[in-house]
Amino acid sequence: MQDLEQIQQDANALFQSIDNLAELDQAKARFLGKQGVLAAAMRTLGSVPAEERPALGVRINQAKDAVEQALRARREAIQAAQLESQLRAEALDVTLPGRGLGRGGEHPVTRTLERIEGLFHSLGFDVAEGPEIETDFYNFTALNIPQDHPARAMHDTFYVDAAHLLRTHTSPVQIRYMQAHEPPLKVIAPGRVYRCDSDVTHTPMFHQVEGLWVDEQVDFSALKGLLAEFMQRFFEQDDLKVRFRPSFFPFTEPSAEMDIACVICRGAGCRVCSHTGWLEVLGCGMVHPEVFRHVGVDSERYLGFAFGLGVERLAMLRYGVNDLRLFFENDLRFLAQFN
Ligand code: PHE
Repeated sequence: MQDLEQIQQDANALFQSIDNLAELDQAKARFLGKQGVLAAAMRTLGSVPAEERPALGVRINQAKDAVEQALRARREAIQAAQLESQLRAEALDVTLPGRGLGRGGEHPVTRTLERIEGLFHSLGFDVAEGPEIETDFYNFTALNIPQDHPARAMHDTFYVDAAHLLRTHTSPVQIRYMQAHEPPLKVIAPGRVYRCDSDVTHTPMFHQVEGLWVDEQVDFSALKGLLAEFMQRFFEQDDLKVRFRPSFFPFTEPSAEMDIACVICRGAGCRVCSHTGWLEVLGCGMVHPEVFRHVGVDSERYLGFAFGLGVERLAMLRYGVNDLRLFFENDLRFLAQFN
C-alpha cells in the first residue's frame, strides 16, 4: 500500500518535470508499460495471501488509473502549451501597415514619346511606324544619300548583313509612308534608331520622332510656326523663343537646325546651354526633289517639309536629367522618380 502511494507520487513528479511528448512517452512506459512498475506490482499478487488479494488488486488498479489520469493531464497541458506558443509565433497583427506593392510606371522616354505624339496629334498629324531593320535603299539611297556620299560618314551604321542595317534615323519611314500614301499627308514617325557610337552624350540606341508634311501649299514659314508651337507646348513656355540656322541634310533643301532659348536659364546662359542661351533641338528642311522622285511624288505640284528630333534630348531638358546614360541603366531609384 505504502509503495503504491509512493509510485503514484513518483509518477506525478516525473510527469510534471517533463515538457515534451516524446519524453512523456518514455516516462509512461516506465510506469504503465509491460515491464513497468505497476505491471511488476501486479505480478506480486500471486505471492500475496488469498484473502488480501482482491483488496490489493483493487488498490493496484486504482493506482494505475491515477497514474493514467496524471499522464493524460500532463499530455494535455504539454499540448496546450505547444499550441499556445505556436499561435504566438504565427500571430498576425492585422493592424500593421502593408508592405506596399511597388507599383511600376512608364519609362521617362516612353512618357516623353507619348507627350510628343499627343501634341503632334492635336496639331493634325497621324502616327506611323517603320521597321528598325532597314535596307540600304530606305535608310540612305532613297533619301538622296548615295553609296559614296560623305554624309554617310555621319551615320556610323550597324550592319546586319550585306543587305540590311539597323536604321540610323527615322527618315526611312518618310519613304515608306510616301510609297503607301498619296499626298496631302501629315505624319510623324516615332521610334528607335541605332548608331555605333557610345560616349557621355551618345548611346548606341536612342529615339527619334520624324515629321513629314506634304501638300500643295506648305512652306518654310508654316514649318517654323508649327515647330515653334510644338516646342512652346512641350516645355509649357508660351513665350519660348526659337531660331533657325541654315544647315545641311541630303534629303532636305533648304535645311535648317532649330534652336530654342535655353529652357533651364531662359536664355541667360548656363551650363546646360554652354552659356550660349540656346539649345539645338532638331533638324528640318523642305523635302528634296530627289526624295520625291524616288517615291513618285510630283515635285512640281507638291511641297513638303520634314523634321527629325531626338527624344532623349527633349526628355533630359524637360526633366532636368544631366546624363543621357541614366535612361538606359534601369536603376529603379532613378526611374521611380517619374512614377
Ligand atoms: N534624319 C536627320 C538626323 O537623323 C534629321 C532630319 C530629319 C533632318 C528630317 C531633316 C529632316 O539627323
